[in-house]
This record gives sequence, C-alpha cells and structure tokens, in this order.
Amino acid sequence: MSKRVLITGGAGFIGSHLTLYLLHRYPEYEVIVLDALTYAGNRANLREAEGNRRFHFLHADVRSRDAVQEAMQGVHMVVHLAAETHVDRSILNPDAFITTDVYGTFVMLEVARQVGVERFLHVSTDEVYGPAETAACAEDAPMRPTSPYAASKAGADLLAQAYHKTYHLPVLIVRPSNTFGPRQYPEKLIPFFVTRALNDLPLPLYGDGKQVRDWLYVADHVRALDIVLHKGQPGEVYNVAANNERTNLEITHKLLQILGKPEALIQFVQDRPAHDRRYALNTDKIRALGWQPQADFDTALRETVRWYVQNRDWWEPILQQQTEYRQFVEQWYGVRGQTVSGR
Ligand code: NAD
Ligand code: DAU
Repeated sequence: MSKRVLITGGAGFIGSHLTLYLLHRYPEYEVIVLDALTYAGNRANLREAEGNRRFHFLHADVRSRDAVQEAMQGVHMVVHLAAETHVDRSILNPDAFITTDVYGTFVMLEVARQVGVERFLHVSTDEVYGPAETAACAEDAPMRPTSPYAASKAGADLLAQAYHKTYHLPVLIVRPSNTFGPRQYPEKLIPFFVTRALNDLPLPLYGDGKQVRDWLYVADHVRALDIVLHKGQPGEVYNVAANNERTNLEITHKLLQILGKPEALIQFVQDRPAHDRRYALNTDKIRALGWQPQADFDTALRETVRWYVQNRDWWEPILQQQTEYRQFVEQWYGVRGQTVSGR
C-alpha cells in the first residue's frame, strides 16, 4: 500500500542510510526528508535518492512548528532522527542539544498528534541508561544519563512516552547502541580515527581507552528501524544492539591494523568528563520481533575503513570546516595537534 514516510535528520549518517533503504525496499513508499542541514547534515549523503520521484527534500528545522506542520500533511509514518548527536559538543556547548533534541522532539510529537499519524518512531539512544555497571540494561532499566547529550535524549524519550500515554499517539521508541559505517561524520570515534590515521595524525584516546561500547553496523541499525516501524507495538521501547562489546583500545588497534599504520599514533589524553565506562543492552525484545544483526563485525569495519579511504572528497572539506571546533576539543582534552609523519 502507498505510504508517505517523513524522516527527520535524513541528511545525516543513519537518516541517509534509512532513506535509501526505504526507497529501495518499499517501491510504493514516498519518502520526505526534513533536515536543517546543520554542520552534520549533508545533501551529498542523499545523492543516490536525488531524481527519484518518490523522494522529497525539505530544508527545515524541527524547532519550527510551521515547517513541521507543512511537512507532516498527508504523512502516514514519521521516523524522528534529527538531533544534535555528539557527546563532546554537548559538553562544550549544550544549548542546541536542549532546543533541538528536547524542544524539537516536542514540536514533532505535538504536530503528529494534531495531524494524526499512523506511526511515530522516535530514535532515542542507549546513552539514556547511563553506564551499565554489571548486567546489560533491559528496556525497563532506569534512565541515568550523564552527559548533556544523553540527558537531552532522555528528555525527548520521556516526552515521546508521555505522548503515547496521554494522547494515545502511536509512538514507538528505539534505543540503539554505537553505530558505525560509511558517511558517519568524522567527529565520532571510528571515522575520526580513520581520517586522522590517514593523515598520520595522533589518535587521542580518552582516559585509559578501556571504555566499552557495543558496536552496531549501520545496515543492521536501519533494518531494526524498519522492523520496529512496521511490526513494533505502539507504546513500547526496543533496545537495538549487536551485543558486540569492544574497548576503544581494541577498536583503535583494529583500525591501525587495517590501515597498516603504526601503534605509535595512539596518544592517551585526558578523559572525557563523566565518561560512561560501558554500555550494554539486553536485546531480547527486538529479537523477538524477528530482528538480528547480520553483519560480521570485522568485515563491516574493513568495509567502513575502505569507504573513507576511497572518499577523501567527502571528508576532507568537512575536516577543514571544523578546524575551530577541533582546536577547542584539542585544547580541552590536551591533544597534540601536529602531524606525526616526518618527526
Ligand atoms: P548525525 O549527527 O549524523 O545527523 C543528525 C542530522 O540531524 C543531520 O542531518 C542534521 O542536519 C539534522 N538536524 C540537527 N538538528 C536539526 C534540527 N534542529 N532540525 C532538523 N534537522 C536537524 O546523527 P546520526 O548519528 O545519524 O544519529 C541520528 C539519530 O540516531 C539521532 O537521534 C541520535 O541521537 C540517534 N542515535 C545515534 C547513534 C549513533 O551511534 N550514531 C546511536 C544511537 C542513537
Ligand atoms: O551509544 C550511542 C551513542 O553513540 C549515540 O547516541 C551518539 O549519538 C554517538 O555519538 C555515540 O556516542 P559516544 O560518545 O559513545 O561516541 P563517540 O564516537 O563520541 O565515542 C565513542 C567512544 O570513544 C567513547 O568512549 C569516547 C571515545 N573517544 C571518542 C573520541 C571522539 C575517544 O577515546 N577519543 C575520541 O577522540
């Protein structure tokens, strides 16, 4: 059946993968991307969709109720991904996290309630649980966010739950783990370290590098969004993870090995404030819907590295644009900025 799907944040990393996936998987669907094209949004991420008559792009902000109202007319399903997403940026400057992640989500929910959409999938994060001390977190674990990013996402998550309870809006929530793959903005660990290593720059590992993240390949993430959007129970929350826990140090060793770069590039620096030691999710609930990760981690990591090696034209201009932010971060964490090659 023909459906109109609105994807917010569709010019970002996960949103662009979801957009291309839905256009391909559902030839009867129309996909509308609403994106403010912040520093993290990039029209080039949607190049493959341009020219497709079932694809529409709206350059707009989720904080603008008028724009969201216009975008949601005739829409059956919403996938809300638009957010400020980088923990370090939230520590350095939290403002936009509150206005976009919390207030922007409120605008999306409020308009969805007025329009009466069939499904509203809110993309939250595993960071809302805070650090997993021993056992993996199930969906009913308490929220203990530690960074301004995680707290803003927790606020949005709670609002989405409230809209289901109070107004019976058919809200579904996913809480995915650390995701990686092509087109991820080169501020997040894997693309940041790959692009730094390719330029022979030191890789700043925070603290002792033994923090654990549960790595999920973007193709598996997007299939999880598809399954929850179509088969999930409104009002329910679904964790999404491959149960693939790795330390940051292990990831760094793997990246250097794939790239054939020396271990000497590793530089231990001051730790991130309130750095969550480990995230770990119980994923029984989404697996019961029929989802399971398909990617082999090592293969997916090699594929991702290869994409960055082959797409310097995508990331080099980005690195030039974010010089000021990087300088700020480097001062903050005490990172050496010079190139290592030729020392
Ligand atoms: P991203 O930073 O790559 O992309 C975010 C997109 O949102 C960009 O295209 C940006 O332009 C857009 N955006 C930002 N503010 C906006 C606004 N006010 N109005 C409209 N558009 C706006 O993010 P991502 O990594 O693809 O993450 C997408 C979603 O998934 C986020 O909600 C994030 O919290 C969540 N998530 C991400 C991960 C991960 O590891 N990347 C894991 C779990 C959950
Ligand atoms: O867990 C899901 C979350 O994963 C998402 O909700 C966020 O949007 C996403 O940014 C990500 O958050 P993290 O803080 O885990 O991701 P990041 O890539 O920033 O860092 C991953 C780990 O690597 C973390 O322990 C911090 C560490 N790190 C990161 C950078 C950028 C370093 O040691 N050095 C670095 O330079």
